[in-house]
Formats: sequence, C-alpha cells, structure tokens
Amino acid sequence: MFNVMYSRMKIVSFPQTKIANGNFQKMFNFVCSLMGVNKIDAVSQADYNFNTCTYSMLYSANKGSGSGTFKGNSCKKVNKVLMEWKNIFRDNNISEPKESIEHIIAHVLGSRSISSVYKNMEQILSPYQIERINEYCQKRMERLPVQYIIEEWDFRNLTLKMSPPVFIPRPETEMLVDIVLNEIYRQATDRVLEFCCGSGAISISLLKSRPDLHIIALDKSTEACELTKLNAKMHEVSNRLEVIHEDITAASFLNSVSTQYDIIVSNPPYIFENDMIHLQSEIKLYEDPAAFNGGADGLKVIKHILKASFLLLNCKGKVFLEVDPKHPPLIKSWLQENYDTKLQLGCVYKDFSGKERFVEIIKE
Ligand SMILES: C[S@@+](CC[C@H](N)C(=O)[O-])C[C@H]1O[C@@H](n2cnc3c(N)ncnc32)[C@H](O)[C@@H]1O
Repeated sequence: MFNVMYSRMKIVSFPQTKIANGNFQKMFNFVCSLMGVNKIDAVSQADYNFNTCTYSMLYSANKGSGSGTFKGNSCKKVNKVLMEWKNIFRDNNISEPKESIEHIIAHVLGSRSISSVYKNMEQILSPYQIERINEYCQKRMERLPVQYIIEEWDFRNLTLKMSPPVFIPRPETEMLVDIVLNEIYRQATDRVLEFCCGSGAISISLLKSRPDLHIIALDKSTEACELTKLNAKMHEVSNRLEVIHEDITAASFLNSVSTQYDIIVSNPPYIFENDMIHLQSEIKLYEDPAAFNGGADGLKVIKHILKASFLLLNCKGKVFLEVDPKHPPLIKSWLQENYDTKLQLGCVYKDFSGKERFVEIIKE
C-alpha cells in the first residue's frame, strides 16, 4: 500500500482534510514507526495527485526537513467502481444490485440523481470518495436498505430524511396521494387526518400541494413521529402539521383526536401475518415489523381505523386506505357486518401494476 520515498520525518499537525481518514491514519502510524516516535512536528505542504493517487508532502522537524510521497488507495473511475460493486452485490444475492450501487455512487458524488453517475463515468474518484463508497457498500452487504444508507429517499417530488426502523415510503403510495388530492380539491376541504404517518410522506406531500391545508398525523412509533416532524420542518410545513404520538388501538386514542374531518387517509400495516415470513431480508432485518404486520387477516389496524372513522368523519366524509389486493372484498363484507359504522365501500383503485391497492370508503 505504501510507496514511501523518505526515511525520516516527524509530523504533528497535518492538513488532514486533504487526506482520506484511512490513509492519514496508515501514514501516521507508518511514519511514527519509521522514526520510532509517537509524535510528528510539522508538514508545511501536502497535496494529492489524482492521476497518480499519491500524496506528496514537504515536512519539517527539529532534525531537519525534506519531502516524501505516500501512495493512497488506487485510482478508480466511477465506471470501474460501479461495475465492481454491482458484480459483488449480484454474486452475494443482494437485491437490486445495480440500483444499490447507482444510488450509493450518486450520493457520494453529492447528487440525488442516478443520471449523475452516468454523466460522470470517466471521473476519477478521490480516495475519500472511494472509502465512503466502500463503507456504504459494506453496509449494503449487510442488507441495510440503500434508503437508510444514504439517509434519504424521494417520494413524489420531495426528498425525505430516512432512518431505521421507520417505514421507507413505497412508490405505489404516491398514487394514494393523488387520489386524496383529487378528493381534497373536490370537497374544497382544508383539514385532513392521517393515521400511521411513518416518515410523514403522505401528509407532507399533501401539505406541499395544498398551501391552505392543515393535517393531523398520528403514529404509534416515537421514531416515526420524530421523523415526520423533522421532514415537515425540512419542507417548511410544520406550522400546518400536528403530529400525535398515539396508538390507534389504545383506549385513550379518541381523547387525542376530537374534531370532525371530511377526509381521513392511511397506509396502515396490512400484511397478513402468515406472509410476514416472505418479506425481503432487508425489511425483516431493519424496518419496523409493526409497520407491516396486519395480524391474521391483515385487517387488525384497518378495523380500528374504520371504527375511528365512523366517529371522526363528517357525513359524506371519506376514508382512503392503501390495502393488500386481497382486502377489498374482505373490507366490503366487514362493513356489511358492521353496518352500525355507517361506512360503505365506494371505489377500489388499482396500483400501477394492476393490483387492487386502494379503497375509498364513504360515511353515509
Ligand atoms: C406502512 S407504514 C406507513 C407509513 C407512511 N404512511 C408511508 O406510507 O410511508 C405503517 C405505519 O403505521 C404505524 N402503526 C402501526 N400500528 C399502529 C397503531 N396501532 N397505531 C398507530 N400507528 C401504527 C407504524 O409505526 C408505521 O409507521
């Protein structure tokens, strides 16, 4: 790793910012061991040559001065790193190997767009960038979702902060926002209630699209509530969003939400308990199981939402839910059996892969 062309030098204050952390430590240890000291006096200049991947430095010490070069991590272009890690991910059965490395490189290049990777394929990465990429890729090898690695994710036209174990918003939920926006427009309402807000993706998207809207968003997870608040602050909608930390299945729940609404929206946990085992390793290892597990029939939380909707919806108000494609007929019969909720299944909407994914339920 080292190609040191000097034999003695002492350094104490080194312009570390120019040197990737790993290299600095290696160089420091190496030079100290050469000199038999644990302290180095000064380096007057240090530069990194991107073509040869070498650090060169002028040093001074009480025993004299001199210069030396230090070979950093080998030079690599974006396209080489992309290919190498894509193959490693693929060989290790990491899901979405190409997308994973694309997002990691884009993030390290300081961009949110994958196209930046392809625009910069010939760019030589600095040792610092290579170290970051290697560090992030190691996390990906441990199945950490790329959204948690880069700590952000796009939902509609917003970039949201992400942190484990809060649910990572899925693309189909973007359609739910469109469906609800149409209804907000149709009803000209200025207040919405969201159950199970997670990172705040739905509420913040609605608030950004409708400057006159106010939302109450609720989640039982502390981390989810904190992340929703952080994302709301980042997108400057905190003054129109009230976040409530509450479990919708708890007896105390109705005390925290009292007013009436025309629209309620939720992407609740709806996976059938028996299907939980089939979730990807990434999900099982890092995302909150409570964000997915809907109990034996996938309707455990949904039934609580429907009972609450009966109390919280105005007449002709609507609740919009994201559900499992097996759910619409089950919800229809549950509503028929529980006719005292005064709720009826209205429309069922398909997601972009043609699955019945969203239900619209109306209060009589
Ligand atoms: C599928 S995630 C949806 C998050 C977000 N709305 C989205 O679409 O990205 C479900 C959320 O419901 C929350 N949750 C689960 N059970 C709950 C309950 N009994 N009361 C309130 N929130 C609950 C979880 O903490 C999780 O944040």
